[in-house]
Amino acid sequence: MALQATARRTGAGTAVDVTERIHRFSLVERMLHWTIAVTGIVCILSGLGWYSKRSFGFLLSVFGGGETARLVHGVAGIVMTVASVALIGVLWRRYVFRFIPQDWAWLKVSGGYLRRHGKPAAASETPVPAQGFFNGGQKLWAILALVLGVLFLVSGLVIWWPDLWKNFLGQQALPIDLIRWAYVVHDAAFIVFAPMVIFHIYLSTLLNPSTFEAMTSGAVTRLWALYHHPLWYAEVMGEPGGAARGSGGGSGGESAGEAMPR
Ligand code: HEM
Repeated sequence: MALQATARRTGAGTAVDVTERIHRFSLVERMLHWTIAVTGIVCILSGLGWYSKRSFGFLLSVFGGGETARLVHGVAGIVMTVASVALIGVLWRRYVFRFIPQDWAWLKVSGGYLRRHGKPAAASETPVPAQGFFNGGQKLWAILALVLGVLFLVSGLVIWWPDLWKNFLGQQALPIDLIRWAYVVHDAAFIVFAPMVIFHIYLSTLLNPSTFEAMTSGAVTRLWALYHHPLWYAEVMGEPGGAARGSGGGSGGESAGEAMPR
């Protein structure tokens, strides 16, 4: 996306500086997201150590080895899930759990990411529809991350239970079959989560330049908003002062709903 224009004429004829920044994420949202990012990466790296001791065992020593690495992994996991519930389940709930037709249309053409050489692939002849605060893919990812976080926490506590039981709780041990199932769930969630996190980081940094600024300063340029989330941009501009966050869906917004290139 080239920043070739410094000003864009709106329908009303007002000159707007497209490099001007608009608010996207609050400090609390960014702090929660960074907490999820750091604890998520700690969990993935330490988890890899147990997943394949032969190839990644060295990672366990990075986190103190043995019991210390286990404690670091467990505590990071609890913090990650609590932060995910607070961010996705509470603060972002109205942007994530409300699907509008544009979301399904976005998913149908995979957000235009499968286009090759500027031409749509056979599966995505239709232009990419304009999106609200989050696009259909971001909403699905947020729901997946939340569900996986809960699965990690529940299965992780069961796996950890014998230690917790011996050291702190003084209660009966759990059935061995339950602990075995917890390992299956924990490992399956890991197999989905780890590649998804890598893909998410790639999408939010290298593939879509400037997106990372939403996570650092919390603000994005008007051009970024127009390009990636035109329905949200239209909502923000509809508010006096332009500071509102909109519904995240776009209640119609068809004027801004013309297809934008991704
Ligand atoms: C260093 C690691 C990470 C980076 C650089 C990163 C980057 C970003 C950025 C820039 C956004 C804002 C996108 C926008 O404004 O539209 C975002 C959103 C989000 N992040 Fe991350 N993230 C990281 C780790 C994680 C982890 C570990 C999780 C999950 C547990 C996660 C879950 C989400 C979710 C659910 C959203 C909202 C939906 C979306 O934009 O995809 N992130 N991330």
